[in-house]
Amino acid sequence: MDLRPLRVNDETRRSEWLQRFAHLPTIRLTHRQVSDVELLGNGGYTPLYGFLTRRDYHSVLDDMRLSDGTPWSIPITLAVSHEVASAVKEGSPVGLSAPDGTPLAVLHVRERFRYDKEREAQSVFRTTDSAHPGVAALYAQGEVYLAGEVEVLQLPQHRDFPAYRLTPQQTRQQFAQRGWRTVVAFQTRNPIHRAHEYIIKCALEIVDGLLIHPIVGETKSDDIPAEVRMACYEALLANYFPADRVVLAVNPAAMRYAGPREAIFHAIVRRNYGCTHFIVGRDHAGVGNYYGTYDAHHVFQHFQPGELGITPLFFDHTFYCTRCGGMASVKTCPHDVDARINLSGTQVRRLLSEGKPLPPEFTRPEVAQVLVQSMTVGSV
Ligand code: ADX
Ligand code: MG
Repeated sequence: MDLRPLRVNDETRRSEWLQRFAHLPTIRLTHRQVSDVELLGNGGYTPLYGFLTRRDYHSVLDDMRLSDGTPWSIPITLAVSHEVASAVKEGSPVGLSAPDGTPLAVLHVRERFRYDKEREAQSVFRTTDSAHPGVAALYAQGEVYLAGEVEVLQLPQHRDFPAYRLTPQQTRQQFAQRGWRTVVAFQTRNPIHRAHEYIIKCALEIVDGLLIHPIVGETKSDDIPAEVRMACYEALLANYFPADRVVLAVNPAAMRYAGPREAIFHAIVRRNYGCTHFIVGRDHAGVGNYYGTYDAHHVFQHFQPGELGITPLFFDHTFYCTRCGGMASVKTCPHDVDARINLSGTQVRRLLSEGKPLPPEFTRPEVAQVLVQSMTVGSV
């Protein structure tokens, strides 16, 4: 699919809007909202036009499609309080600024509408439990959605990971320069342990190149911070991957923890970044016990092959098996569970906090070292 970034490229128009900005009613965005504006502006959310109208919003909740039938599984919306909503007019422009006040975008408000948070929670997250981090974020946001076309005047500026801040246009260019015709994307919000490395390498065996595309927008507070994870990815790539087969870039999106629906969303966004294949493993984008281990595989059956413009590659639960003497999955290993070296996130955190090493069958020593160091400086 051709990219459709919503960034204003016409300098005259941009400077006109920037001049008018001070006189517009403006909304200061949260970090989560800024990440949506960034992905609208850079083309990562192609083919969205901005924040969903009521019709598209309900269509996404009910059918995982925009009202014209285009697959889209996560509502991209702008929630504001009643007070803010009553200060804007349908049919008028509103300025959207970063938390520090920097002008980012103009929203041409087409509609304001109230919505039912529990209904959205049930449909997107399959639960109304406020202990779910995505549901909690939904319950905490404003009561009214502002919808309409967005024109992004400038992309948000980031001080962290400048070398890895590639737009969809830039990743596409990189793939083309390397002559890759097929590229698999790996979504992650964790350090890459051996189980991940195994599925990534299985996938890489059948395509030309790999995009490691970690989420660095908002994640829940007990997830490992992005700067530590980035150091883990660098350590892994430097020691265990051929440099000419891998691109590492960050995805500015916030995690939703919406499991199956987020898997579809993650795939669509990676298509926009120029990938042809997308890895979906066990409990993709899941949290707690809200989703079945393979719900994020099954959800792809709602779409015809080719409709998403990217091919999902499904992987079962992988681990190190001491009897196989290597990495394996429930699909390929006949041995007893006792032979498997498998650690939960909680077990990993406990080992690290006790200053104990992670087993090399679980994590590469170079990665473990980054994690241990991050513990001693107290950033995990
Ligand atoms: S998440 O956003 O999908 O939650 P995470 O870093 O936890 O990110 O997982 C990245 C990818 O690896 C997902 O596709 C997930 O399903 C897959 N995955 C994680 N652990 C395993 C495992 N042990 N076996 C198979 N797939 C896994
Ligand atoms: Mg996971």
